[in-house]
Parts: sequence; structure tokens; C-alpha cells
Amino acid sequence: MSELRFNGRVAVITGAGQGLGRQHALELAARGAKVVVNDLGGALDGSGSSTGPAAAVVEEIKKNGGEAVANTDNVATPEGAQAIVQTALDAFGKIDIVVNNAGILRDKSFKNMAPEEFDQVIAVHLRGSFLVTHAAWPHLREQAYGRVVMTSSPAGLFGNFGQANYASAKMGLVGLTKTLAAEGAKYNIKVNAIAPIAWTRMTEEMFPPEYKEKLSAELVTPVVAWLVHESNEGTGETYTVGGGRVARVFVAEGPGFTGQNGLRAEDVRDNWQQINETEPYLLAKNIGEQTMAIFDAIK
Ligand code: NAI
Repeated sequence: MSELRFNGRVAVITGAGQGLGRQHALELAARGAKVVVNDLGGALDGSGSSTGPAAAVVEEIKKNGGEAVANTDNVATPEGAQAIVQTALDAFGKIDIVVNNAGILRDKSFKNMAPEEFDQVIAVHLRGSFLVTHAAWPHLREQAYGRVVMTSSPAGLFGNFGQANYASAKMGLVGLTKTLAAEGAKYNIKVNAIAPIAWTRMTEEMFPPEYKEKLSAELVTPVVAWLVHESNEGTGETYTVGGGRVARVFVAEGPGFTGQNGLRAEDVRDNWQQINETEPYLLAKNIGEQTMAIFDAIK
């Protein structure tokens, strides 16, 4: 089995001071990539900052014989995102890989969620992934090569009590992934998303202790490593991954119902079962394919 190597590649990994991001950074560096370890070093709710976590991971990579530099800028500001990408250019002369991983939590039931708590979570996860990728994009386009991973979440794909802000951001990343996959296709830029589950400070209170090893971050990183490798040609997809299991998640459309003489509310009521059928489903590769399905139905 040939080993997946990253020699000559430069990767930026956000939020890589601990948890999943740290694991991604260690693994890509061990496989030959030069890595920018970004981490603001704040608390789980996004408050505060520290240079410690990013520096510690860089030290660990260097001790293992790899190459890495630390960056402690904030993914949630345009200046921070620019500075993160600039760190890669200054230290290693280019950027090939972006893993958007930085994240915070501000969980509240919807009734109690303040608008600021919504905005802060969107700012880091969704806007932060936009900003960092946007800063890298001209460089990826120019060299006609890029691999980008977004970090979504099952909470966004399937919904989760108390996470209206987080789930909105995480599902937003799926739309961003699909659109950037379309815009990057011409430039050999592949953009995919993972929806992980792992034992980190973000989840340690959710899982029973016996799952600590079974859900180690090490069991998520291999999917990221494959998605950002040059031999991966897939793009625009989302994969759940955790505990060594990995599966594609897809947005599909059921066969639907088409009114023969217009569509009245009563037609919708009377055909509700057919409208909710999931088989056979259409897995449209892009909006064009979905629109064609409508055109076919009404012609
Ligand atoms: P973590 O809390 O261990 O790591 C997140 C890192 O992001 C922290 O080191 C933090 O300092 C950094 N960070 C936060 N805001 C930042 C900012 N504005 N700029 C730069 N760095 C910032 O959490 P974990 O679990 O490793 O999460 C990584 C990603 O995976 C997050 O996007 C999270 O939402 C996602 N995720 C994790 C799941 C899990 O089961 N652990 C489940 C689903 C998604």
C-alpha cells in the first residue's frame, strides 16, 4: 500500500492548538507537510486568548522532525484571516491546503439565545471559514491547486437541542462547501466537509468516560488527510466521521408530486404522502441538475 505523503505541500490548519485541529496538524506534518498551526488559544466560549496552545503543537511537530510555525490570529476577522495565510506565505512561500477547524460553543435553548450569542458562533465557524478560505483563494487559483476542508457537524446536518447558532453555522458550511467546489473546479481546488465526532474539550462532558479512547481525535484525522491529498479528486461532499466510522452524507430530493392542473393547497394535502416519499431520490450534483428535474416534470 503506497503511503499518502505531503512533501512539498503547505497546510494551514485553524484551531490547531488542541483537539481535532492539533491531531490534523501532527498527522499532516508527520506525512511531510509544512504546517501553519493557527490557534487563538481562548476558552471554549471564545473568550480570552493565549499563545500557548499553538506554540506547544509547533514544538511537538518539531520534536518529531517536522516543520511548522505558530500563528495566533483570530479567524473571525478579515485582518486575522489575511495574517494566517500570510504566515504560510512568509514561512513557506505558498499555501496548498486549508483546514477550517477553529470553533467555539455558546449553547443555549433558542428561547434564551441572545442575538450576540448567535452572531459570535456564526462569526467563528461560518464567517471564519469564509474569511480564511477567501484569503487563501487567490493563491490557490493562481497555482491551479488547492485542497480545502470545512468542519461541519452532525448538529448542523441533523439538528441538536440548544445549538441554534452552532447548527446554523455548521449547515451553512455545507452550502459554502458545495459552492466553492463549483467555483474551484476549474482551478483544481477541491473543497469538502467533515462532520466529526470526537472526544475533545468541546464534547468531554457529553460522552461517558469509556468513550474517550473509542472516540479519539486520531480516528477523525485520516479522513481529513485523504480529502486534502493531491490524489483525492472528489469535491463538494460532506462526510460524517468518528470512532473509525466514515460515511458520506448527502442532500437528495425525493420523487415529488407534480400537479397536473396547477397546484392548490388541497392538492398538497391530498398528495402529502407522495410529496414526502424519499425513493427513488435524485442526487443532484449541482443546482442545474435539480432544475432540470423540475423542467422534466413540467414539460
Ligand atoms: P476544541 O475546543 O478542542 O478546539 C477548537 C480550537 O479552536 C481551540 O483550540 C480554540 O482555541 C480554537 N479557536 C476558537 N476560536 C478561534 C478563533 N476565532 N481563531 C482561531 N482559533 C480559534 O474543539 P474540537 O472538538 O477539536 O473542535 C474542532 C472543530 O470540530 C470545531 O469546528 C468543532 O465545532 C468541530 N466539531 C467537533 C466535534 C466533536 O465531537 N469534538 C463534533 C462536531 C464538530
